Amino acid sequence: MEESISQKTINIINETADLIVANDRKITSKMYEIVFTKYPDLEKLFEGISQEQYKKLAQLISMYAVNIERIESLLPALKEISLVHVAKMVSPVQYPKIGMALIQAMEEVLGSKSLVKRNPNLSWGFF
Ligand code: HEM
Repeated sequence: MEESISQKTINIINETADLIVANDRKITSKMYEIVFTKYPDLEKLFEGISQEQYKKLAQLISMYAVNIERIESLLPALKEISLVHVAKMVSPVQYPKIGMALIQAMEEVLGSKSLVKRNPNLSWGFF
């Protein structure tokens, strides 16, 4: 099923993009902390993960925020990342776990400014 992002969501992401960019490394570090606490079995998959990976994920999240109205411009980067995921045998059932951890990390780092807090009916990646 294909659903498009609503204008309301776009507006909130536009408003919060600067906050995301300013806090991107904090958000990704918190996200991994949540993932490894909730799903210790995933730790092995990320064994030896470098600071470079934290940086790449942080950059991607910022890129999403800034380019939300031209998301297709991210396709080449997303294709590369999906190849990494395929090589690591990531399965579809694992995505909600990481996605929810990312949302929780945003809420914890951004507090009341988080878009999830401001609009409980939507969250990043789950429009
Ligand atoms: C929420 C969606 C996700 C995003 C936005 C994301 C993003 C990324 C990015 C940007 C990279 C770096 C790719 C590169 O090196 O060029 C990466 C690598 C990786 N991702 Fe994801 N990912 C997601 C979901 C997942 C899931 C569900 C898993 C597995 C549970 C996973 C496991 C990995 C692993 C193991 C790597 C390689 C890390 C290494 O080099 O050791 N990712 N991901």
